[in-house]
Amino acid sequence: MAKLPSIIVSLLPTLLLAGCPGDDPGTSDTDTGVADTGATGMESTGGDDVDMMTTGSADESGDTGNGGVSGEELYLGVCASCHGMMGEGTSLGYELQHPVRLYSNWVVRNGRPGTEFMDSVMSAYGPDVISDEQLEEIWDYLGSFPQPTTGETLYLDYCRNCHGIDAYGGVTGVNLHEPGAMLEIFEKVREGENTGNPGARNSYMPAFDATWLTDAEIQMIADHIATL
Ligand code: HEC
Ligand code: HEC
Repeated sequence: MAKLPSIIVSLLPTLLLAGCPGDDPGTSDTDTGVADTGATGMESTGGDDVDMMTTGSADESGDTGNGGVSGEELYLGVCASCHGMMGEGTSLGYELQHPVRLYSNWVVRNGRPGTEFMDSVMSAYGPDVISDEQLEEIWDYLGSFPQPTTGETLYLDYCRNCHGIDAYGGVTGVNLHEPGAMLEIFEKVREGENTGNPGARNSYMPAFDATWLTDAEIQMIADHIATL
């Protein structure tokens, strides 16, 4: 966390004054992190933080919902304690850079129970807490970071949350080392699977067109998986 962009550093005092944790999510221990965010179950528990952040600022700006707090500010105040200031991920929440919106919207609106790979859970946040517009701004912020340039970092960014750090299954149980699993990798990545139902953990995979991953990048990912 030594190289935070100055814009984020300059926002920190505001966020901390607003009662929001997140100064060093990478090193929070489990108990502290979960207690700080108040997220202990599936119910929406981000409301208190947001209310504190928006108090007094309602109607100052008409261009975003919830009192003019931008999606990026909301992300830093509400989500970064688990997912990292730049969406780089911590032991309490996945890496989130370059998010797929249909899928990510579903997770935020519905929450998730947590997995054996994470020391916390994902609460559901309704539109009363984070408007649709703010959610789009959160994805814009998380999408603004540079594209990874190696097979390993591309894999960690785009595939790891679902297939596991070593591609042996992860939360979906879909093991990419099974014989034949990689034969149709280009087709799988381009077309996805069951893309209408992002809640189906074991049968949903998003589609990534060439604006997300070029053929060369998919090949780099395949080459990396082969080394694992
Ligand atoms: C208390 C920690 C915590 C907070 C706060 C939190 N998350 Fe999460 N988030 C998690 C965990 C843990 C998961 C994985 C849950 C699972 O898969 O069962 C997750 C999963 C996700 C995913 C799905 C990632 C993937 O690749 O599967 C998205 C998107 C997400 N969170 C966005 C957000 C946003 C946006 C916020 C703020 C509004 C937020 N989260 C706040 C812990 C948190
Ligand atoms: C949101 C979760 C998710 C993400 C992200 C994801 N996948 Fe998948 N992937 C799945 C699921 C679930 C399946 C099984 C789908 C089915 O066949 O029902 C799958 C299937 C596959 C298969 C076919 C495996 C087989 O045995 O037929 C390949 C290859 C694959 N994924 C590669 C990738 C690569 C490469 C990436 C990153 C660019 C990626 N996936 C990102 C969830 C995901």
